[in-house]
Amino acid sequence: MVLEVKDLCKQYTRGDRPFYAVDHVSLTMDKGEFVSIIGRSGSGKSTLLNLIAGLLDPTAGEIRICGKSLTGMDDAALSAMRNTALGYVPQGQTVLGNLTVLDNVRLPFYFGDRTGPSSDRARDLLEQVGIGHLAGSLPRELSGGELRRVSIARAMMCSHDLLVLDEPTGDLDPRTTEEIMALLRGIAQSGTAVLMVTHELDTTGYGDRVLEMDSGKLSPRL
Ligand SMILES: Nc1ncnc2c1ncn2[C@@H]1O[C@H](COP(=O)(O)OP(=O)(O)OP(=O)(O)O)[C@@H](O)[C@H]1O
Ligand SMILES: [Mg+2]
Repeated sequence: MVLEVKDLCKQYTRGDRPFYAVDHVSLTMDKGEFVSIIGRSGSGKSTLLNLIAGLLDPTAGEIRICGKSLTGMDDAALSAMRNTALGYVPQGQTVLGNLTVLDNVRLPFYFGDRTGPSSDRARDLLEQVGIGHLAGSLPRELSGGELRRVSIARAMMCSHDLLVLDEPTGDLDPRTTEEIMALLRGIAQSGTAVLMVTHELDTTGYGDRVLEMDSGKLSPRL
């Protein structure tokens, strides 16, 4: 199992009222599965992904990635896990403007304890996401869809097990959205587990399974 989430909770307090942003969520994902989570704004989607990515501490529950539990890991171990076990494409634009496309993709490689060449792998990934010809370009020369492809390639630089994306098409037009979805389907077919969230309720949902988040609770979409 690539991802195992069990009874996961994140409690916040607003005013003096505690509430669950993530409320006893359980989810498992196999190699090559493509799962999408839909839900309205504020339903807890980003909080769930941030927990899975080890960026937030859960109030309760457990997360295992490729069999390794995140519970009880110290900061150094969590950073190492983030850099090797999963690729995360956060909400919004995160490509660095002063680095070329190729260097943006190579970046995570240097955060880990790695030596040796990274550019061959980065070039392969850029080919895989369909923008090999843009390796030497600067982000300001790219379209929104192309920039999203850079983020996806960068997220896959150090891990092919699990790719987690937060609203990867929120700011893209319908045709570009279709292209990015086709790309994600291809990535899943090559064996990477893909977990995507979106607030676009009107889409029928992409992926092998569509789940819905509502007030922190996750359930299969009816
Ligand atoms: N640090 C925090 N402290 C208190 N409440 C928070 C905090 N972070 C998020 N929340 C609340 O938790 C709920 C879930 O937020 P979250 O960002 O996970 O929603 P979302 O489903 O990703 O929404 P969107 O579609 O708008 O991105 C919201 O009500 C939000 O206001
Ligand atoms: Mg969000």
